[in-house]
Amino acid sequence: MKDDELAKFFAQGILVDASVQSMDIPDIDKLISKMNDRGATFLDAKLLYDISENNIENDAFSVEVVKTYGGERSPAKPADWVACFNDRFNRLKNILLSKPECNSVMSISNIKTAPNNSTVSTIAMISNVSISPIKKFMILEIEDNTGSFKAISSQNNLEIVKDQVVFISGKKSNDAMFINQVIFPDIFVKSQKNDNVPDAYAVFISDVHIGSKLFAEDALKRFISWLKGEIPEFSSIAKAVKFIFLCGDLVDGIGVYPDQEKELSITDIREQYDSLYKMLDQIPKGIKLIISPGNHDATHIAEPQPCISSNFAGRIYNLRNAVFVSNPAYVNIRFSTEKIGVLVYHGFSIPYYADTINKYSKMDTDDIAAIMKIHLRSRHLSPTHGASQILPLQRDYLVIDETPDIYATGHIHKTLLSKYKETILVNSSCWQFQTDYQKKYGQKPDVAKVPMVNLKDKSMIVLDFLNEKIQTYEKGIKAHAS
Ligand SMILES: [Fe+2]
Ligand SMILES: [Fe+2]
Repeated sequence: MKDDELAKFFAQGILVDASVQSMDIPDIDKLISKMNDRGATFLDAKLLYDISENNIENDAFSVEVVKTYGGERSPAKPADWVACFNDRFNRLKNILLSKPECNSVMSISNIKTAPNNSTVSTIAMISNVSISPIKKFMILEIEDNTGSFKAISSQNNLEIVKDQVVFISGKKSNDAMFINQVIFPDIFVKSQKNDNVPDAYAVFISDVHIGSKLFAEDALKRFISWLKGEIPEFSSIAKAVKFIFLCGDLVDGIGVYPDQEKELSITDIREQYDSLYKMLDQIPKGIKLIISPGNHDATHIAEPQPCISSNFAGRIYNLRNAVFVSNPAYVNIRFSTEKIGVLVYHGFSIPYYADTINKYSKMDTDDIAAIMKIHLRSRHLSPTHGASQILPLQRDYLVIDETPDIYATGHIHKTLLSKYKETILVNSSCWQFQTDYQKKYGQKPDVAKVPMVNLKDKSMIVLDFLNEKIQTYEKGIKAHAS
């Protein structure tokens, strides 16, 4: 607070506690008027929190759930993989057909009968990818619902993964086509600014793992104190936080892996969620909490996962600022008519691509950004069968129908803020210190690093709550991933 701002309080007969004097408070006149209304003459951090806007429900900001999985099951028995894959194929094909450059397509059966040396093009699913041993050509098996064919490229660095749906054009030669061009469904470039949105922040956390002996409790308490305005550093951002996304693994769960109970401080899953409730209840009610499950939460592991069960997390359902969604889910965060689309996915398929694509095997932040880019370019959150466990429904909930403004994941316990084609990529670290499993594989988690996005100008910052002094964490921000 500057000297002239402090003088305004004194002029009104209000004393200001030293902890508040060190804060950056955006609207002093409004605050003084609220204090005068209450007849208050001493401003400390607690009073500031009590009368701050974030502790009052603020209807100007809202959450619109656009897509969430309600828990319905497939009517078919056994599991109807054909219906699920057909739904995926048809929706991705329509996305590709909407691109002017993909307007001329043939079925694979028509390619088979096309004359040699003619130009052919199709929209197909990649059923296999291999590299020829001598010339290192990339050989793709492609298929649609009329048959399968071979497509060959002399470039072996095309980032194509199995089961992607793509547009391919090339020259027919006997029983193969030689590829000239591959077009992915991909996302569009979205406009970056929302000028009519006031300064407001969306904050992303995940992988809290409450119940684990390695839970970073002090750091989470520090984060919540900061949201309550009790900590001077970056207090102007704390006041502007309107949304917190919780992207899965909120508790450590029970029986998630063998002998897990030895690593738990809370061995009852309801008590784990109760402990989370006590934390979340302290967050100012003007901040909306968008809660999505991960593989440690109280729901089935196959994706899509429905909302965390109210049988286990019932007390959190009583929080009036909590919004439960599935994994994945798509929500719009809104201010008046402005909306910012957020795709939420816990990120279970990310390690599969780190394991199968050598150059991403370190799974550092660049690698995570590159794998999230594969998702967006494929318009699918787990394009390869087996990358995550899938519940085969009539509708494939993992297809990315819309280009999001923000794509938020967790699961990796690393911090990432980056951009691909103006879509902000977020991976939201964790609140659990290094586990034995991570030690064994040399993985070092980023603990208590919180990515934040300014909704007005889309500027990005990561704040580090691990130590007493809150600092920025530059390492988590990567330049454009495209
Ligand atoms: Fe996790
Ligand atoms: Fe996870």
